[in-house]
Amino acid sequence: MKTHFARWATVATLAIAIGGTGTVASAGQSQEARSTAGAEARAKADALVARMTLDEKIALLHGLFPPMAAGKTTNELIPSAGHIDGIPRLGIPLVRESDASLGVANQVEQRKGDVATALPSGLATAASFDPAIARAGGAMIGAEARDKRFNVLLAGGVNLTRDPWNGRNFEYLGEDPLLAGTLAGEHIAGVQSNRIVSTVKHFALNSQETGRMVVDARIGEAALRMSDLLAFEIAIERGNPGSVMCAYNKVNGDWACENRHLLTDVLKRDWGYRGWVMSDWGAVHSTVKAANAGLDQQSGQELDKAIYFGAPLKAAVEKGEVPIARVDDMVARYLTGLIETGAFANAMPTKAITPDYAAHAEVAQHAAEAGIVLLKNDGDLLPIARTAKRIVVIGGNADVGVLSGGGSSQVRSVGGAPVEIPLATGGSASFARITYHASSPLLALRKALPGVRVDWVDGRSLNATVEAAKAADLAIVFATQWTTEADDVPDLRLPNQQDALIEAIAATQPKTVAVMETGGPVLMPWIAKVPAVVQAWYPGQRGGEALAAILTGAVDPSGRLPITFPADASQPPRPHPVGLDRMNGLQAAAAANPAAASSYQLDSFPVDYVEGADVGYRWYEKKGLKPLFPFGHGLTYTSFAYRNPVVRGGRTLSVTFDVVNTGKRTGVDVPQMYVARDGGATPMRLGAFTRVTLKPGEVRRITLTAEPRIVADYDTALPGWRIAGGRYRVALGRDAADRTMVSTTTLEPQTMKP
Ligand code: BGC
Repeated sequence: MKTHFARWATVATLAIAIGGTGTVASAGQSQEARSTAGAEARAKADALVARMTLDEKIALLHGLFPPMAAGKTTNELIPSAGHIDGIPRLGIPLVRESDASLGVANQVEQRKGDVATALPSGLATAASFDPAIARAGGAMIGAEARDKRFNVLLAGGVNLTRDPWNGRNFEYLGEDPLLAGTLAGEHIAGVQSNRIVSTVKHFALNSQETGRMVVDARIGEAALRMSDLLAFEIAIERGNPGSVMCAYNKVNGDWACENRHLLTDVLKRDWGYRGWVMSDWGAVHSTVKAANAGLDQQSGQELDKAIYFGAPLKAAVEKGEVPIARVDDMVARYLTGLIETGAFANAMPTKAITPDYAAHAEVAQHAAEAGIVLLKNDGDLLPIARTAKRIVVIGGNADVGVLSGGGSSQVRSVGGAPVEIPLATGGSASFARITYHASSPLLALRKALPGVRVDWVDGRSLNATVEAAKAADLAIVFATQWTTEADDVPDLRLPNQQDALIEAIAATQPKTVAVMETGGPVLMPWIAKVPAVVQAWYPGQRGGEALAAILTGAVDPSGRLPITFPADASQPPRPHPVGLDRMNGLQAAAAANPAAASSYQLDSFPVDYVEGADVGYRWYEKKGLKPLFPFGHGLTYTSFAYRNPVVRGGRTLSVTFDVVNTGKRTGVDVPQMYVARDGGATPMRLGAFTRVTLKPGEVRRITLTAEPRIVADYDTALPGWRIAGGRYRVALGRDAADRTMVSTTTLEPQTMKP
């Protein structure tokens, strides 16, 4: 039988150093091979377009929303997000779209009884700092999607976390463009290895859920290129997604789905993107402006005010308002995305096939184990000492399962939903329920600890909880924070008096472990009193088993924070969701006067991203703030040291060093390289990282080379990336705040295309 260690090590040895082009392993083909394949795909697409009538072309440019599209096609409509009929006479396939950030979604069980494997949340995958984990997750989801007869997956969410209260942070990959872009690219490549399409989304700056349909995200060009757009750019390079989904919000005054600068100048011109731009569901506002700006396809047409890319588009072509060449390009891009990924020629099964759920559950468990972060472990309280004879597990429904995040990414997981709570209010009420996956940490702990008494209390009665905590040798309290698409959390405190519960437990039981099942960072006012804290995110359908493996030490904790945990709500750039007060006021007014409810609409409002490119940990450095836990932080059950570092400059910035496991257990280290110009005010940026598994005493010599666009600044006058020549600081460390090993070197000046 393979142990957890063996499984773990197999995954970890695939790890590669991520950073500059010199050390980046290609996610697939070489750029040159890709470019040839892309050109061939485009030529095939153009040849098909040449044989199509205008009506046939238009028919491909707007998609149905199956729940509202009864009778609009003779093809079978599978309840999901999208459907576009094919053109049989030209061999153009039918497209079925499903959400798929964390698994094949089935939000409120539109497809009765159809389950799928649920990965942990995106932040958990990001916390692995492991491209192989992201890729394996994508490959698993893609395989299930194919079996369920979907060929376009709405995956690849890579919006950077600018605000810790964003309800959708759990779906994304954190606050750093290199980390998020790299892992998103790998996830996309994994999905597409099944010869189906993945999107990357939501392009761009869909950074908050409050007022997401009206908010105007404002930021300067250089800052945007160096932050959110860089994450997309890297994801697209690595993953080559067939499609890009534009966002709901406005960016600098223009709707993202009719934003010529984003769609045409940046994406298609500067980045040479060949696939198609599909809208988010309900994100289209015009025909002529959107088509001419670069939107290629209207998704979920029933959710918009009009089928803008149907009859109105045909009329606009006939009037000469949208050139026919543009329509041909829209269709050709759609077909190119399908051809290049292999979806075009890859016939869907005629009947759904049952995926290999047992094998896929292992993928979910590996991801959860790799992403759980040990935040604090005073006195080596963890792993659970062999001497603990009586443990009490408290709260968080840990007797039956683990929490998941809400919204379009919701998977109805294998094993079902032991807890499912419908919502009465909020932006997500119509399509989200508070849902737990059937993976009980309590049962997994009991199984992992034979001979140990593991009691359970649900945490509802403070007295009973405190009594149980006192009677045990060790208390493990599960804290939960449900977050969802379409709603931000109003503040960063744990809901439902959980802080008081944790305080009370810690006051009576000095050996208390807090396990955090949260969408993102929460405040921990009790942190000084709780010796061990484990960040579990939403750990997916094998989360209970993964947690038991980490807590008992069968698996060494190896996750690192992909996002800064603030010490106080005032530390991040915006303490609360912008526009929330106004939205709540309007909702209250509408509730009080239902007859006039439709007149209480939220008008567009701006959010100025004052932090610019200094997102997350960079903001903390710039402002001199000490977070609760920095980006990159995560403890292990062993210890590591870095020795003999050599920093090199010249054309690229690199650091070569020995990493040594100085502890007594095999473990995983995630060395991180941060870079910045010397002497300037620029905060240091993550330039490269890697993940290594080492046995006790083992030494590995590693080179990290900084991604050049991280070293550079974006110069709008050039336009392009500019590395100013001169001295640069290089920090080799364990997290974004670690400055124990800093050196400087000189770089030659250079410029790169936008
Ligand atoms: C979400 C997208 C999703 C789409 C289709 C939208 O509300 O923003 O992420 O892919 O719905 O379900």
